[in-house]
Amino acid sequence: MAKVYVFDHPLIQHKLTYIREKDTGTKDFRELVDEVATLMAFEITRDMPLEEIEIETPVSKTKSKVISGKKIGVIPILRAGIGMVDGILKLIPAAKVGHIGLYRDPETLMPVEYYVKLPSDVEERDFIVVDPMLATGGSAVEAINSLKKRGAKNIKFMCLIAAPEGVEAVKNAHPDVDIYIAALDERLNEKGYIIPGLGDAGDRLFGTK
Ligand code: URA
Repeated sequence: MAKVYVFDHPLIQHKLTYIREKDTGTKDFRELVDEVATLMAFEITRDMPLEEIEIETPVSKTKSKVISGKKIGVIPILRAGIGMVDGILKLIPAAKVGHIGLYRDPETLMPVEYYVKLPSDVEERDFIVVDPMLATGGSAVEAINSLKKRGAKNIKFMCLIAAPEGVEAVKNAHPDVDIYIAALDERLNEKGYIIPGLGDAGDRLFGTK
């Protein structure tokens, strides 16, 4: 069964408070999301395998550890997911970045794929799917479906704020995908916004309304 990790590091929680605050402007919002994404990337990479290599320091030969050839793919769900990418790449600069775009069909209300561009070696990579908000879970479930359909085997999902409904949806659809969040909020409102949440993450990141 999927595990859910809530990153309660004081720096993450502090920055998240100002991300939520309605008077935080676009510039600060963007910078704070970027910083929290970096801090979350630090936590999410905790299980990366290490191997020992031989090196020479200025005073002696020694064996020392390096990350053992893990290939990572970061997949932002368009568009708000883009706001988390640079923060992750600060710690994993060699990661490849794919994009998945989904829109909601006005009749069925189901997410429909309109854009998918992934690294060519999907089967060999471990993926981190990112979206700041896990609301109903529809987009996350579909983005993960999309990756799996193309051969991805090892997937993590990372977001800033999740609603319990979204967590359940991802856990049920993808029990093999662990979920990493900075805060688990109360619920969704009738318009599908997370309460208390932060409003529309895409609009706040890109300064649109
Ligand atoms: N997407 C957002 O940007 N905000 C929400 O509260 C829910 C979904």
